[in-house]
Amino acid sequence: MSERTLVLIKPDGVARGLTGEILRRIEAKGYTIAELKKVQASSEQLAAHYAEHEGKPFYQPLVDFMLSGPVVAAILEGERVIEGFRSLAGTTDPTTAAPGTIRGDLGRDWGEKVQKNLVHGSDSVESAEREIGIWFS
Ligand code: CMP
Repeated sequence: MSERTLVLIKPDGVARGLTGEILRRIEAKGYTIAELKKVQASSEQLAAHYAEHEGKPFYQPLVDFMLSGPVVAAILEGERVIEGFRSLAGTTDPTTAAPGTIRGDLGRDWGEKVQKNLVHGSDSVESAEREIGIWFS
């Protein structure tokens, strides 16, 4: 059964001019980009999006980073797209993410408090529907 997922190209990906490369990989994998927009996130959107991380040491640096410039938000569609996009993205830490993945090929540690790891992808059907509501209401 076809699924939807919410993808964000984070401010580091947009600022480094990697939007096209990241979207190219998504399309080359065969997923449909159903919706796409460039937006400046609001504090309210980020508080909702990262509610599960509130109180963690990286929470405020993460929110500040996400407010530092525009993001590109997309809804992808396809069979098992949630799992498939997370596989394309690679693991959270870009230094050790596998080569061949978005984070592994295009990301690195920049010596900052937050892990600038280029992209976000929803981790479950429930998160995807919740996050799509935050970014595409
Ligand atoms: P993501 O998994 O998309 O959502 C949570 C984000 O928090 C994660 O990407 C990283 O950007 C950031 N993050 C997670 N863990 C850490 C950490 N230990 N230190 C700094 N940033 C982190």
